[in-house]
Amino acid sequence: MPDFASRDPLTPAFWDERFDRQFTPWDRGAVPAALQAFVAQAPGPRTVAGQPPAVLLPGCGAAWELALMLEAGWDATAIDFSPVAVARAKALAGRYAGHIVQADFFDYVPSRPLDLVYEQAFLCALPRARRLDVAERWAELLAPGGLLAGYFFFDDVLKGPPFGIARAELDALLAPHFDCIADDAVTDSIPVFAGKERWMIWRRR
Ligand SMILES: C[S@@+](CC[C@H](N)C(=O)[O-])C[C@H]1O[C@@H](n2cnc3c(N)ncnc32)[C@H](O)[C@@H]1O
Repeated sequence: MPDFASRDPLTPAFWDERFDRQFTPWDRGAVPAALQAFVAQAPGPRTVAGQPPAVLLPGCGAAWELALMLEAGWDATAIDFSPVAVARAKALAGRYAGHIVQADFFDYVPSRPLDLVYEQAFLCALPRARRLDVAERWAELLAPGGLLAGYFFFDDVLKGPPFGIARAELDALLAPHFDCIADDAVTDSIPVFAGKERWMIWRRR
């Protein structure tokens, strides 16, 4: 692993440095299969009459998933607090670059309650002490019936990121606000997550 100056994953500088030096082992470089299937299925996330589903991709990194969601007609916004990540995502997004915003997940206020939050290597990017804050923010942002869907990384190695979670801890974290409605094995993991991640969907009560 290269020697990095920034050691605190709670700061944008930590992620800037890794994107700058192209050290991004979490980056799948493509849209993963379970998400593709989820986007393809009807009716998708909760839809308010006349409005496309409002979707947020927090800590989006390169935001490979954004174009697929926009092309499905979803009102999707990808956010990241790292300026270098945002620049990379915008360069990849082409005509969809306007849907990528530099913002901190804990401060970002969407224009309307969300129907879907997409989770992909964001919870596991943050030190364990921030987990409750992440779960509470997910719950605040999602409308009742809205979905938290994506990939959850299970591991007990203390050093991170990625900071894996125990299944019982994830259940305890989300149970106050969410019901688990899907929990599936992942077949196309990249090495850093292989054998240790699940595709899950949690519905906001
Ligand atoms: C491990 S990377 C995952 C990126 C992307 N989701 C992926 O799977 O390729 C974690 C990302 O979360 C971003 N991030 C961390 N804390 C954040 C915060 N408070 N608000 C917004 N983005 C944040 C980092 O800048 C980084 O791009």
